[in-house]
Amino acid sequence: MDGTSLDNALHIYDRDHHIHGQTNLRQQSENGPTVMVTSGNGVRFTTSDGHTLIDGFSGLGCVSLGYHNDRLAEAAKRQMDTLPFAPTFYGRSHPKIAELAERLTSMAAVPMDRAMFQCSGSEANDSIIKFLWYRNIARGEPNRRKIISRWRGYYGNTVAAVSASGQPHMHAKFGLPLEGFLKLSTPNYYLAHKDGESEEEFSARMAKEFEELVIAEGPETIAAFFAEPMQSGGGAIRPPEGYWDSMQAVIRKYDIHFHVDEVVCGFGRTGFMWGAEAFGLKPDSTSCAKALTAAFFPMSALMIKEDFYQDMMRNSDEVGVLGHGFTYAGHPVGAAVALEALQIYKDMDLIGHVRRVSKRFLERCNALADHPLVADVRGIGLFCGFQLMADKKNRVPFEPGLKVGVRAQDAAHDLGLYLRSIPPDRISFMPPLIIEEDEIDEAVDIFKNALDSVWEEVR
Ligand SMILES: Cc1ncc(COP(=O)(O)O)c(C=O)c1O
Repeated sequence: MDGTSLDNALHIYDRDHHIHGQTNLRQQSENGPTVMVTSGNGVRFTTSDGHTLIDGFSGLGCVSLGYHNDRLAEAAKRQMDTLPFAPTFYGRSHPKIAELAERLTSMAAVPMDRAMFQCSGSEANDSIIKFLWYRNIARGEPNRRKIISRWRGYYGNTVAAVSASGQPHMHAKFGLPLEGFLKLSTPNYYLAHKDGESEEEFSARMAKEFEELVIAEGPETIAAFFAEPMQSGGGAIRPPEGYWDSMQAVIRKYDIHFHVDEVVCGFGRTGFMWGAEAFGLKPDSTSCAKALTAAFFPMSALMIKEDFYQDMMRNSDEVGVLGHGFTYAGHPVGAAVALEALQIYKDMDLIGHVRRVSKRFLERCNALADHPLVADVRGIGLFCGFQLMADKKNRVPFEPGLKVGVRAQDAAHDLGLYLRSIPPDRISFMPPLIIEEDEIDEAVDIFKNALDSVWEEVR
């Protein structure tokens, strides 16, 4: 088969045999994949039709070191040659995971003592929900089971993690969320503030809503408050001034367990090692994934403190084991790749690099606020959200049928930049952390041209 026939065959195999997540199934089964990504290098990837794009979405917020890295590839090969698999069940271990558990807990935003490893952010977040229930039973509080989170939050797709997520289309037709998963407003200041309300007043109102919910449900029934420091899947929503101070005052007042999801924010995205540092959060537990291995291997981690572990131990004494775990948990290749990624971050001064280039990134992104389509721009580090509106001053959205966000995403794609549109007409822009200033200029220029062409269509 020549190259074109092979491409056509693969397109048909995918269309007829592959089930895609987060995809319209009918469109996929009629049209096949929207793109077939075949290779990548630096901040760019190439598709089967030879089109090369800057990845302004880091894959799915994960390819922190871009699409090629000899050190990570060699670390994976060395580990595959030495020990490709070893279970972590039944008290068994292997050198790389022991080293990674120590390394990761010692670098957490607030001191953490224990880490459990899985393959995905969803599994890490599902695990903490189970562990909260498990721990509360050990503490004689079996009714402390409710999880509070926010609309538009995203914690993954396993049954409990998606119940905590505030994404209605992920609940619809699945009979979800599970009972006891409660939601608060998303802190999107631009869209949700009242006329004349300052950011601080808005934040105080959000905290009041939180406190009222806790009181109505009974503080003794609340197992945890779940949050991403800056919402990612909801559309790169940076919280307004005073938000986290006000929310954490409620957390402290009612002694609520605070689980911070660092799956996207962790490892430099915000210009800090952790999103918790960027926003002054004090988590009781935390989950991370994605850039933990720079996405070269699927791996996530859940970190907890010693007192939590001590409570869990009491149940394990009674039952005989912690009845929870995944075959590939603490995979040796993942652990070797994660250790190498963390070393690369140190050697390249990742945080210094992100702080330096993000000045240019945010300056260029903020300048787009003058564009007639752009109503609001908010970002931190290499993580920025844009709200597109028909009338920015009066906060009038576009007709959903116009799909303005999707048009902007598609126009950028055609011009050589991959971005993600998230309803309602939000654009999330988060390039790989290795991006340089000239690449930022190129990417933002493309985005601006894409916005110009959509403006010509919808003005
Ligand atoms: C903030 C956040 N948490 C959790 C997850 C779930 O991670 P995974 O897709 O690895 O299960 C995601 C995925 O995008 C995420 O953005």
